Amino acid sequence: MDSVGEDRERLEAACLLMRRDHERMRDLWHEMTRTLEAGGDEALFRDCAAALLSYARAHFRNEEWVMRLTGFPDYADHKADHDQLISDAEDMLHNMDVAFAPPDWPAVATFFRHWMRKHGDTADARLEAHLRALASRTEGTLNVS
Ligand SMILES: [Fe+2]
Ligand SMILES: [Fe+2]
Repeated sequence: MDSVGEDRERLEAACLLMRRDHERMRDLWHEMTRTLEAGGDEALFRDCAAALLSYARAHFRNEEWVMRLTGFPDYADHKADHDQLISDAEDMLHNMDVAFAPPDWPAVATFFRHWMRKHGDTADARLEAHLRALASRTEGTLNVS
């Protein structure tokens, strides 16, 4: 980064991107649960899970860009967690196709909630702390939740 002003601009853009992505992922998960509440259309429920996975892929790339841009020291571990999350979600989608039936779907939705939250409460929380620490060296405060 070249200057304090440019640092702050980039940090704000990165934080906005993260916040928007996290909100969208939560929305996608809520769409899964609404599908269940509406009676559970099989194709729609699977589409919601697939959309969440697809969005997560893009989000993880965004976060990895932010981590590289800001010299995040836990980049390798955080990226490894992203890779594991994608692999786990792909397995879950495969299981939905070959093994699971509608009575299993609430458990699938619970899996995806845990899948998002655990990473958000640990790895992403550390990244947010890193960004806040960087921001504190510039001016003002950042909202990255
Ligand atoms: Fe992450
Ligand atoms: Fe994230």
